[in-house]
Amino acid sequence: MPAIFLLGFMGSGKSAVARALSRQLDLPLIDLDARVERQIGTSIAQFFASKGEEAFRQAETRVLTEVGEEKAVVSLGGGVPTRARNREVLQLATREGALVVYLAARSETLAQRIRRQPGKRPLIDGQGTLDFDQTKARVEQLLGEREAFYRECASFEVQTDERTIPQIAGILADKWGQIHSKR
Ligand code: S3P
Repeated sequence: MPAIFLLGFMGSGKSAVARALSRQLDLPLIDLDARVERQIGTSIAQFFASKGEEAFRQAETRVLTEVGEEKAVVSLGGGVPTRARNREVLQLATREGALVVYLAARSETLAQRIRRQPGKRPLIDGQGTLDFDQTKARVEQLLGEREAFYRECASFEVQTDERTIPQIAGILADKWGQIHSKR
């Protein structure tokens, strides 16, 4: 079933844009991280600390495969496209009519947003102890490793730095409308 998937780095606004877009299009909202947390029975940060990243990625792929069947606005975790199996799920969804969007942002913007939720992003700053420059350096390193994967999976990209959540949701609602008027 076609759906809209939002991709992007941690702090790119995926969850907030997905909430606004699901209201605007009257489609159900799925937050992949929240679904994963429900399935593993603990927070992602706790799970990373006790079981490690690989166990988290396995749970994430299981949940992504399930939600790939639902017609909804889906906010993905920032690391989803790093796994080949997940990229296949998104590419198949695109062929079936899904809109896969990359919400791009500069490293300064991402670092600022990540620092507003200390301790929430184990891959950047699990202990919440890094200063701004250290956070930004870590973002740049990881973003450099991932950007090609985001672009490989997405069929549409929005630069988010200078835009508000309602503006971004509006752009995506228009794009969704264009895709559907052609069908
Ligand atoms: C991750 C991003 C997080 C969460 C986990 C790993 C990543 O989601 O899935 O901490 O590898 O980028 P958000 O992008 O919603 O923060």
